[in-house]
Amino acid sequence: MADHNLDSLDPMAFTRLIPTRESHFAAAEARIPADYPANRLAAALHPAYQHLVVSEVKAETKDSRVYTLVPDGDMGCTSLAYFDAGQYLCVYIEEGSVVTQRPYSILSSPRDSLCGFYKICVKAVEGGFVSNHILENWCVGTKVRTSAPLGEFTYEPLRDCENVVAVCGGSGITPILSLAKAIAEGTEELSLTVLYGSRLEESIICRQELDILSEKCENIKVVYVLSHEEKEGYERGFITASKIKKYAPEGKYSLFMCGPEAMYKSLEGELSGLSLERKQVRREVQSECFAPAPDSPVSVNITVKAHGELKTVAASGKDTILRALEKAGVAAPSHCRGGECGYCRSRLVSGKVYIPEGLDMRRLADSRYGYIHPCCSFPLTDIEIEVFPKR
Ligand code: FES
Repeated sequence: MADHNLDSLDPMAFTRLIPTRESHFAAAEARIPADYPANRLAAALHPAYQHLVVSEVKAETKDSRVYTLVPDGDMGCTSLAYFDAGQYLCVYIEEGSVVTQRPYSILSSPRDSLCGFYKICVKAVEGGFVSNHILENWCVGTKVRTSAPLGEFTYEPLRDCENVVAVCGGSGITPILSLAKAIAEGTEELSLTVLYGSRLEESIICRQELDILSEKCENIKVVYVLSHEEKEGYERGFITASKIKKYAPEGKYSLFMCGPEAMYKSLEGELSGLSLERKQVRREVQSECFAPAPDSPVSVNITVKAHGELKTVAASGKDTILRALEKAGVAAPSHCRGGECGYCRSRLVSGKVYIPEGLDMRRLADSRYGYIHPCCSFPLTDIEIEVFPKR
């Protein structure tokens, strides 16, 4: 048997197979009818894009709004892709020739999508672009382009326990609210205890819906925790191991976490006190809620190869590479923006990057052959990367 040295192999060799394969497909006789039922179903469940229109806007708190999105018949969209509670939609914002995208968890139930609507909650972000753009510009009638539902922060009975304790902070309640609705509607079978942390009583998102769900369904319990206010009927302070133990059900449970970086940081030390197995802990990374290295450079140059062109842009070491590219008007692919989906996968040709702890979810081969996820990588030096635009 030939003695292959792995390092001498060209990891991109397989891409040369694509033109050959495509020419074989083009020359082949069509045997599957264009409207083959399985293909129709696949297109309905996984459309490349969904053209939607805002049908309702509701102020939720001082700095957040809930938007109802329905199919945009004028753009040929007649139904919505079904989803699992916990998934998100990537919202595309077009500014001139630059398309920026951000993921927003769906807070309506999976059954609602069959009734023709999704709901998402958008909260103002200090210095943010997309959320603030939406809050300033979206109104009833605004046309919106989104992805199909995406994401892995879903309940899986083969992996997750029958009892789930969800620890949420701020707008991190949205995927868990969808899960609670799915439980109440009988789409998901599990018992859910939610510990929902907010700064103040007035900053609790979707309070009314949560209260109604916990009243009408015995499998849903909600505990509100206020960090900056002391009030009767609320837990006070941050969510800690002792608070989780106080409300967790007897026996084994899975812990689902969704919230801002400050919440994850404060929970870091607490988790060891809960004696949970790794698979019992599920974490949703909220878009770009992570920090650069403390010694990150003030300015660097990023040379990027995209669409066959080479371009060098000045960037701050405090921005992720993806964010720096977007700021410079370079269209780079992204979905989750939290290191998980791999959609932004790019080749690091030269230079050094910093990936915050817990966010390096690259395949082993990718780490070895120099591929990075720009959504969660910060430049430490001048770098050169190659991005792979999607069709
Ligand atoms: S956008 Fe999902 S890993 Fe980067």
